[in-house]
Amino acid sequence: MTVIKNVFVVGAGQMGTGIAQVFAQSDIRVLLYDQNEEALTKALHSMERILDRSVEKERISEQDKQATINNVTITNTIKDVASCDLAVEAAVENLEVKKAIFKELSTYAPSHAILATNTSSLSITEIAAVTKHPEQFIGMHFMNPVPVMKLVEIIRGLQTSDTTHQAIEAITKKINKTAVESKDYPGFVANRILMPMINEAIYTVYEGVATVEDIDTVMKLGANHPMGPLTLADFIGLDTCLYIMEVLYDGFGDSKYRPCPLLRQYVKAGWLGKKSGRGFYDYNEIR
Ligand code: CAA
Ligand code: NAD
Repeated sequence: MTVIKNVFVVGAGQMGTGIAQVFAQSDIRVLLYDQNEEALTKALHSMERILDRSVEKERISEQDKQATINNVTITNTIKDVASCDLAVEAAVENLEVKKAIFKELSTYAPSHAILATNTSSLSITEIAAVTKHPEQFIGMHFMNPVPVMKLVEIIRGLQTSDTTHQAIEAITKKINKTAVESKDYPGFVANRILMPMINEAIYTVYEGVATVEDIDTVMKLGANHPMGPLTLADFIGLDTCLYIMEVLYDGFGDSKYRPCPLLRQYVKAGWLGKKSGRGFYDYNEIR
């Protein structure tokens, strides 16, 4: 079974940053890669801020924080995957982008390396098919915010070997997450259930049934959700929500998954939620 000591994380956005942090906290060396230099610097600052909060709350010591930071190195060279045992991709939710990344990773990764994608919804089997060793490819779907959420959905493609699956189960346990296996169908389990709820909340705004705030209040106070669905949509990223709805819609061919026109319009406007400063709420003042 592949022993995982060095991990290459692709994409230094909100998910990649959290994924890098949880590996680094478990004494695993991480190379965090992004094509955008600014994203890499931002990722390190954000990780430091989150770790500082944990130190303040006495959950970890200052030494623990330093050890985690020291385990993370940033890079803008994808060829650096050559030194890693596992690559976890967390770039945008777009099939063609992911295929292009995995073609490159597969070229430069050592032959024993496992390649994993954090895709929210896309076919593991289809992405695996562009790699040199599809039997060493798997879905490893973390939840946002990664340092807090306990779940990792593990999705085997048609080609994934038992040894790859076992190695990923073992590393998931090592980083103190709980693995749940899902078959390779659009949206797996989490987003097949969660995203239509979010899309329906957006339809509820679109049809003027209630205000954004009131819809969130209903689901927080009435259903005990930690965040209302529109706050959650902003938190996930409206571009990601739209990509996932499109994958569900295309994959099942069922009109119940049609993305709300308002969601499409917000994404066209560049209102992507918290990460862009505006979505269903305005974050510019509190950033
Ligand atoms: N990164 C790291 N840690 C964070 C964080 C972040 N972005 N946001 C909050 N936290 C930590 C806080 O530091 C705090 O830690 P302590 O317990 O050590 O104090 C803890 O989380 C609780 O935070 P807060 O007290 O500030 O706020 P809260 O009680 O409202 O919790 C929350 C925040 C955990 C995000 C909570 O609101 C929640 O669970 N929301 C729902 C999240 C959810 O549904 N995630 C799944 C999204 S879907 C997905 O991920 C799949 C996909 O493919 C789209
Ligand atoms: P994000 O927009 O915050 O970050 C994406 C990062 O990928 C950016 O830093 C961008 O520069 C980088 N990137 C884009 N194309 C790249 C390329 N070709 N090579 C290298 N880097 C590239 O997105 P996110 O929210 O972190 O989501 C990333 C992935 O994780 C998506 O597949 C998404 O579906 C999945 N996911 C997201 C959530 C969520 O709640 N946001 C939860 C689970 C899974």
